[in-house]
Amino acid sequence: MKYPKYLLAFTVCNVVLAGSAATPYVIGSQDTTGQRSPMAEEVFKNVQILKGIPVDQFMSTMGFFSASLGLNCTDCHVEESASNWTRYADDNARKQMARRMMLMVNSINKTNFAGRQVVTCNTCHRGNPRPNVMPSLDLLYSSVSGDEPGDPIQQASGQPPADQILDRYLQALGGLQRVAALTSVTAKGNYMAYDDVEKSPLEMYARAPGHRMIISHSHSGDITWTFDGRSAWIAAPATDKPVPVLDITGQDLDGVKLESEVSFPARIKQALTNWRTGFPTLINGRETNIVQGTTANGGTATLCFDVETGLLVRLVRFSNSPVGRLVTRVDYSDYREVAGVKMPFKWTVTWLDGRSTYELMSVQPNVAIDTSRFAKPAPSRQ
Ligand code: HEC
Ligand code: HEC
Repeated sequence: MKYPKYLLAFTVCNVVLAGSAATPYVIGSQDTTGQRSPMAEEVFKNVQILKGIPVDQFMSTMGFFSASLGLNCTDCHVEESASNWTRYADDNARKQMARRMMLMVNSINKTNFAGRQVVTCNTCHRGNPRPNVMPSLDLLYSSVSGDEPGDPIQQASGQPPADQILDRYLQALGGLQRVAALTSVTAKGNYMAYDDVEKSPLEMYARAPGHRMIISHSHSGDITWTFDGRSAWIAAPATDKPVPVLDITGQDLDGVKLESEVSFPARIKQALTNWRTGFPTLINGRETNIVQGTTANGGTATLCFDVETGLLVRLVRFSNSPVGRLVTRVDYSDYREVAGVKMPFKWTVTWLDGRSTYELMSVQPNVAIDTSRFAKPAPSRQ
């Protein structure tokens, strides 16, 4: 039962959920078209507990359940839901148990921890539908920790200020002047989701400050990720998402914004506040500096820089959800020069219910991109 092998590869990019007393729900923001993001109970038929959160957070919560319990979507839902979104509304024993567990967890946190969200599904389950009753002897004597890095940290003693590491990063990319002079890119490349058997062609359009649109021409239909500088959406075929155009909200929106800023990092220091530096750590066997900051809506984002090259190799970000912190990780690699600036030609986004790899092949710097590219996408052609 180990595995992140979900029947549906949700392209929802993130995380979230709801509400312990100390963590107010992130209520759907208005997007740039002036529309309010619909709440889960307005879109779905049988939501009894996870009310008052936008659809992207609701779906991320489902990812959190799956990851915490090591279950597929259909393990808690009826088999027919795999091919029909409306059947997710049907109840069964496991789904009812999951509802009781949400109430139990809220009550544990409220009664014992002043409402702080310190106990989550993952605290007990750790990838098992039946939590371990005994400590594992294998784990006890193993050196593998297996824990996600990027927990909120304080400035570590003896570590350089974040400013210094970020300056070094800008230097490694080609220097602030060149970085600032690169103001747009268009690119072609490949996209591959976790359960895809083959790569699909992608196009990317990006313009400073932080506008980005990526479209993948996947076998089941086009998938579009758009960020217009303020709002973000994912348009995907019905096989991938419960709604044709999903609004990205709250702390997850902050995360999408940060990922877009990384394409044009001249203003990276302004992208987050309350910067702090942690102790260096090993990522893929290489020593890495860790800096962390806080996003506009109070999310946590951690940037990991290779000590030797100074380049950004990993971004880890969290958003809140009613059941636990939702983690998204982006791994950057294959840096190549574009207009004198080093740019990652490959990155992999991993979250609780999916993993996607983007690879660029041809990149054109400083071309004019029509603003309409960054408008709210139309539903996907299938
Ligand atoms: C641990 C059990 C569990 C897992 C795993 C799980 N769900 Fe759920 N799901 C629930 C529960 C419980 C609800 C009802 C929530 C409520 O009443 O607030 C629900 C509700 C839903 C709904 C709303 C249905 C409606 O119309 O009312 C959808 C859609 C959904 N889940 C999709 C998914 C997907 C997709 C996955 C896999 C990524 C998934 N679920 C994994 C327990 C689970
Ligand atoms: C305090 C520990 C604890 C926490 C926290 C916890 N669970 Fe559980 N859960 C258990 C235990 C123990 C069992 C097994 C009970 C048994 O064996 O009868 C269980 C069983 C379940 C089952 C039934 C699994 C099966 O085999 O069919 C589901 C579904 C479930 N939990 C969902 C959740 C969800 C969703 C959350 C978070 C909202 C959660 N649990 C949080 C302890 C916990």
